[in-house]
Amino acid sequence: MAAAATGLTWILEAMKILVLNGPNLNMLGVREPAIYGKRTYSDLVGFIQREAGALGVDVCVRQSNCEGELVSWIQSALGEFDAIVINAAAYTHTSVAILDALKAVALRTVEVHLSDPSAREEFRSRSYVSLAAEAVFKGRGFDSYADALRHLAKVEV
Ligand code: DQA
Repeated sequence: MAAAATGLTWILEAMKILVLNGPNLNMLGVREPAIYGKRTYSDLVGFIQREAGALGVDVCVRQSNCEGELVSWIQSALGEFDAIVINAAAYTHTSVAILDALKAVALRTVEVHLSDPSAREEFRSRSYVSLAAEAVFKGRGFDSYADALRHLAKVEV
């Protein structure tokens, strides 16, 4: 009403978020269910899409077992997405290449994990992704992804 009266038109574009999942996350449901649960990777994708729909954000969800493919998807996000949510899985603890790609595009980045890596083996306590992330959500299973989407939807300026 107010917009019509002043002749202003507001076009609100949904925030576009790229959700990246790293190696072995395609094995959810089979992989170490005591740690990662019994739900499958396609359950996770459906969960993320439903959460995104409820928040009014657009998501593109991708998974790769290959470090270079993840790097290429991060690079391609520039100009296409507003933010990245990333569970780099084992590459979290090893990949300077993924860290450098995240720093290169300088998009808002949120790190997620199903488990809490810092409460597990010592080698999981280092995260290279954290060096480029504005927030980390971990240890809450699928809900870690919901927390990340809510964080981005809420604090966008
Ligand atoms: C993980 C934790 C990592 O340490 C592990 O290598 C994974 C999954 C998680 O979501 O809890 O593959 O990122």
